[in-house]
Amino acid sequence: MNSFTFYTPTEIIFGKGAEAKTGEVVKKHGGRRVLVVYGGGSVKKSGLLERVEENLQAAGILFEEFGGAQPNPLLSHARNGVRAAAKFGADLILAVGGGSVIDTAKAIAHGAANLDTDIWEFWSGRRTVERSIPVGVVLTIAAAGSETSNSAVLTNAETGKKCGINTDFNRPAFAIMNPELTYTLPRRELACGIADIMMHTLDRYFTHEAGNHFTDRVAEALLKNVVIYAKKAMVNHRDYEAMSELMWCGSVSHNGFTSLGRTMDFGVHKLGHELSGKFGVTHGASLTTMWGSWARYVLPDAPERFAQYAENVWGLTVGTTLERARAGIRETEEFWQSLGLPLCFTELGIGVQDEETLAYLADMCTDFGQKTVAFFHPIDRETALAIYRQANH
Ligand code: NZQ
Ligand code: ZN
Repeated sequence: MNSFTFYTPTEIIFGKGAEAKTGEVVKKHGGRRVLVVYGGGSVKKSGLLERVEENLQAAGILFEEFGGAQPNPLLSHARNGVRAAAKFGADLILAVGGGSVIDTAKAIAHGAANLDTDIWEFWSGRRTVERSIPVGVVLTIAAAGSETSNSAVLTNAETGKKCGINTDFNRPAFAIMNPELTYTLPRRELACGIADIMMHTLDRYFTHEAGNHFTDRVAEALLKNVVIYAKKAMVNHRDYEAMSELMWCGSVSHNGFTSLGRTMDFGVHKLGHELSGKFGVTHGASLTTMWGSWARYVLPDAPERFAQYAENVWGLTVGTTLERARAGIRETEEFWQSLGLPLCFTELGIGVQDEETLAYLADMCTDFGQKTVAFFHPIDRETALAIYRQANH
């Protein structure tokens, strides 16, 4: 096996009614003055926010609300959150929502612990996070995996740049995960979440680094499991078994377990983030739009890896290596299509783009050609442009 470091310190409280433990867990992690971060209002409508706040109150914990995080969360909003946290003297940030809320909470936590630093300094890579305050999560959607990940993604509306930072300070102290809380999800968000769960493992699976076979088997099992339960959840979104399988797969897919001993690629994520940065499209949909074009472009690098994926995830055993590899790509795309997810720019709803816009996307993705992203097939400006062109129909 290759060497690795595995650090996933988040305490998971999983199951029906888990949110009833919020006060107790907040206290355990040192929270006495809590900033409760939420999004556009789904948690108010469902009554979850009220239940969580009653629970905090019963535990004698002081709190203040900070709502309004939007999908593709904004830097400007997180900056306001830092000010709110500082004014209140928050010692723990509690995210009640999905990835956008959690990432906002992470940004607020870093800002609150570093009041002399504008948080974009961290996201732009000019400063590294060296201290923060704890973040706790009450999760409402199986998708981004931010409840256990070391990432946080923000969009700077002034520059149109959407990007993430990876640091162990992004690992939440605890995550309360009750699959029942996802029952109110709109169908589209459910589907986008399913795609994101798969993509966190797919963006790790394609590697030239051999070894750690157990990691491959875990990744393949996770992908198969998501496909099985996604189908069930799309038929009945109140299916507890299906939602719980998806929710746990969402965390494991992005906590590092499916990439032990190898370098993560994340090229498709980088390409997708530029679509969200420019057009505001939903994260999961940006990924399904780009994956097939990326896969066909990089396929010649390692057809046998794609054939292994086709065989072990989709059960495709007939044909040559290349035929199986191509069939695996097609099968993946057909699955996403069956969930109503897009495979190209037109289906994404942004229409066919001109060359100037494609060049802009490639520039943003590679810092105007100054850097390459990804590892399986390093993506420079020309490669990014070629892959965007393939999705541009
Ligand atoms: O804002 P509210 O009103 O809560 O509504 C949200 C939002 O409109 C809604 N929603 C969530 N749970 C719900 C619900 N509606 C009804 N019932 C519920 N139970 O769903 C919409 C999407 O929410 P969002 O938080 O944006 O979803 P998701 O968890 O997919 O997060 C996406 C964001 O996370 C980033 C993405 O780029 C994107 O900005 N990611 C974060 C990662 C990380 N930190 O590790 C990794 C990912 O690769 C990803 O980049
Ligand atoms: Zn993602």
